Amino acid sequence: MTSRAFALTAAALCLGLVVAGVADDVPAPARRVEAGRRLFIESGCHGCHTVGAMGTPIGPDLARLGARWGLDEIERWLRDPSAQRPRAHMPKLELSEAQVRALGAYLSSLR
Ligand code: HEC
Repeated sequence: MTSRAFALTAAALCLGLVVAGVADDVPAPARRVEAGRRLFIESGCHGCHTVGAMGTPIGPDLARLGARWGLDEIERWLRDPSAQRPRAHMPKLELSEAQVRALGAYLSSLR
């Protein structure tokens, strides 16, 4: 390999690494939304809520929650509904902070 070809190959490899590094960062929010979507089913939210056609209509439909509530509001609600609304019927659920963030990302993506 000539030194010029070597330099070009090295440059292409570096560029590839940079692009791969960026591409790796891009899906992070999407992964959080996907994790939240799964949690919504696994942690029983759909036992009391619908998102469009899926779920049970005991509590409000959340299909367009992201258009109605900000992310902060959603996360505060999930941490403790009765702290937001003293007469809330929704129970306080045992959610970790990571679960609250994932559910918040998912719900605020619903518009
Ligand atoms: C036992 C039933 C029940 C479960 C389980 C439940 N909710 Fe609720 N949720 C309610 C009810 C009822 C309301 C209506 C407000 C109230 O009176 O508490 C509500 C309200 C909400 C609201 C506010 C919506 C609005 O438009 O006012 C959000 C957001 C929400 N729930 C998200 C969730 C998520 C996410 C989960 C799962 C982690 C969940 N809920 C689990 C019953 C439930």
